[in-house]
Parts: sequence; structure tokens; C-alpha cells
Amino acid sequence: MGQPVNLGIVGCGAISAQYLQTIDRLPQVNLVAVADLDLDRAREAVRPYAGVEVLSVPDLMADARIDTVLNLTIPAAHAEIALQAIAAGKHVYCEKPLAATGADARRVLDAAAEAGVRVGCAPDTVLGTGTQTARVAIDDGLIGRPVAATATMLTPGHERWHPNPDFYYVPGGGPLLDMGPYYISSLVTLLGPVATVIGAAGRTRAKRTIGKGPRQGEEIPVLVDTHVTGVLVHESGALSTLVMSFDAVATKAPNIEVHGELGSLVVPDPNHFDGTVLLTRLGEKDAAPLPVSAGYEEAGRGVGLIDFAFGREPRAGGTLGIHVLDIMESLLASAKSGRSVDVGSTCERPAPVALGNSAAAG
Ligand SMILES: NC(=O)c1ccc[n+]([C@@H]2O[C@H](COP(=O)([O-])OP(=O)(O)OC[C@H]3O[C@@H](n4cnc5c(N)ncnc54)[C@H](O)[C@@H]3O)[C@@H](O)[C@H]2O)c1
Repeated sequence: MGQPVNLGIVGCGAISAQYLQTIDRLPQVNLVAVADLDLDRAREAVRPYAGVEVLSVPDLMADARIDTVLNLTIPAAHAEIALQAIAAGKHVYCEKPLAATGADARRVLDAAAEAGVRVGCAPDTVLGTGTQTARVAIDDGLIGRPVAATATMLTPGHERWHPNPDFYYVPGGGPLLDMGPYYISSLVTLLGPVATVIGAAGRTRAKRTIGKGPRQGEEIPVLVDTHVTGVLVHESGALSTLVMSFDAVATKAPNIEVHGELGSLVVPDPNHFDGTVLLTRLGEKDAAPLPVSAGYEEAGRGVGLIDFAFGREPRAGGTLGIHVLDIMESLLASAKSGRSVDVGSTCERPAPVALGNSAAAG
């Protein structure tokens, strides 16, 4: 067992409940305190968890008991909060995207390298059994040489359920920056880094209407493209076709398929930790489920913090996070220019995750 992470959370909005549940049952993580611009929201979030303090952001950053900051603020605040944590000598694990822009994300990674602290980045869903079992299948040669993948995420938009959906429709949001990290992190885990992209994008409406909560009926402006498609050319030569949309009602397409010379895989939703991987071998008619063979079982948002407890480079890490952000920014730049764009960064495929219960993982 390593040293438990002594954690402070900044940002106690919609997603914090999932993290708090996971952290509560992970012996590798000890939650010390939470903070939010809205202290009442922070108090409400930790009401079920005895002994967790509620602090202002500066007090949390200054707290010597805390060695790692979990940044669950909105994308526009990710870099600012991460830089504050790094300046205080703390490791930081950030919700996706790593920052609202690649330039901001680079500032975060540079500051962390200088301070000698580690940066992690969501999504950690790809450390679960779904994506990890698919990865083992590819690495074991079950589909032969991988040649292509498809990744499809189509919804009518999060304003139908999120009480404060503004951030989904400003730079740093949109279907690509919001949901792309799940799909692209999974594609890089499965097929390796991306060298070049070709993109196209559209926007259906200038305004969206909030569907739920105290602001129901309020219109919010749309400042980003809401349907983004493109091709990712992996360094291996494999081609992934991506469709990310807040403009479509429904789809029956699998979230991710990976095609090789000898077989095709259906990969489960990368926004979830588990799910069944299906394999169709060349010459066979039907897809068969693969046994679960790798990844964190009983996982939830926050398992990416486990690597911090063991002092190792987080597999849900900053280098992957910035590569994913570069891919997304390159896609949008390509959509704008009508030309292919070289991705400015690369990364190693993150190390695989052995099969095991997340609460017992070392
Ligand atoms: N909502 C989801 O289902 C979901 C799922 C996965 C990931 N995420 C990601 O999690 C992050 C947060 O999303 P959310 O839905 O919880 O948003 P939210 O708006 O519900 O919550 C964000 C919280 O951060 C606080 N905050 C903002 N700026 C701050 C600052 N400078 N200092 C301190 N607190 C600050 C806000 O007061 C708010 O309480 C985003 O990056 C989002 O992409 C959300």
C-alpha cells in the first residue's frame, strides 16, 4: 500500500456527488476538505460525509494537510485553479478538459514540471473494465492489425437536464470538448496517439433553452459549434472517424467500434467504466462477448486518483489530457480552415490497468 492521497476538492457542483461516493470507499484517498465559490453548495455536497471540512479556496490551497487538489470547477476555471494548487506545491487532478485551451493546459503542465508535482486529468472511465478489456483484446491480436475505428456521440444537448448548462455552449464546451475527451482518450488508449486530423463542424441554433431547474425556460447563447465530425489519423496509420453532436435526437450506432484485419470489436460507452466488449472474427456471422480481462472493477469517477497514492505517473494523466485537447483543437482548426491539421503533441499509450477491484488496487 502506498501513501493515501490527502485530498482537497475545489468545485462542488453537479459532478461532485459521483466523486464523493467513490472517494468515500477508496482507502487510497483521504478527503480532508472541499471548497467552492458558493460555500453553501460545498456544505450541502459534503453533508453525508462526516469530518470533511468546508474551506474557502485560498484556505484550501494553503492547507498543509492537503497534498492533492481535485479540480471539479467549470472548464474556464480549470487552469486558474490548477495553477493555484501547483503554486501551493500540491499535485492536481482535473476534470476534463484539462483546460479551456491548449495554451492554458501547457501552462499548467509547465508549472507542474517546474514545481515537481503531478497532473492527472479525467476521464478515468477508460481505466475501467470496458476500455481496458478491449485494449487487451487488441494487444493480444484478436482483431489482427487495427486499421480503423468509429466513435459516435449524438445527443440533443445537456441543457435538457443540467440546471446551469451555460458552460457547455461557450469556448471550452460544445460536444467535442465536453464529450470528446471520453472518446478520444479511449481511442488513444486503444490505437495510440494521433498525428493528423481532418475536421468539419456546424451549429444549428444561436440559443438554447434550459429544460430543468430554477432557470427552466431561460435562453442561453450558443458560442461554439454543436455538431463536429472528423477523421483522426493515428501515428500507427489507423483511421478513426469521430461524430460528436448536441444536435441529434437519437442514434443506434455503437459508441465505439474498432476494426482490424481479422476482426471487429464493439467497445462499451467510454463515459462508463464497464460494459460488454463484443468481438466478431473474420468469417463468423455473430459477435460474441469477451470475458472481462482487465481494468478497475467496482470503479467510479475518482479512481484516476489511485495512481497518486503510489507516487506514479497517473494513467489518467496530464500528458494524455493535453494530447487529447490538442487533437480536439486541431479538429476545430481544421473545420475552420478546410485543411488537415498536424497535432502538435504526442503521448505514450497509458500503461494498462490489471483486472482488480478499485478499492483494493495497488
Ligand atoms: N455534470 C456532469 O455530468 C459532468 C460529467 C463529467 C464531467 N463533468 C465535468 O466536471 C466539471 C464540472 O461540471 P459540473 O457539471 O459539476 O459543473 P457545475 O457548474 O455544476 O459545478 C461547478 C462548480 O464549480 C464552482 N466553481 C466554478 N469556478 C470556481 C472557482 N474559480 N473556484 C471555486 N469554485 C468554482 C461552481 O461554483 C460550481 O459549484 C466540468 O469540467 C465538466 O466538464 C461534468
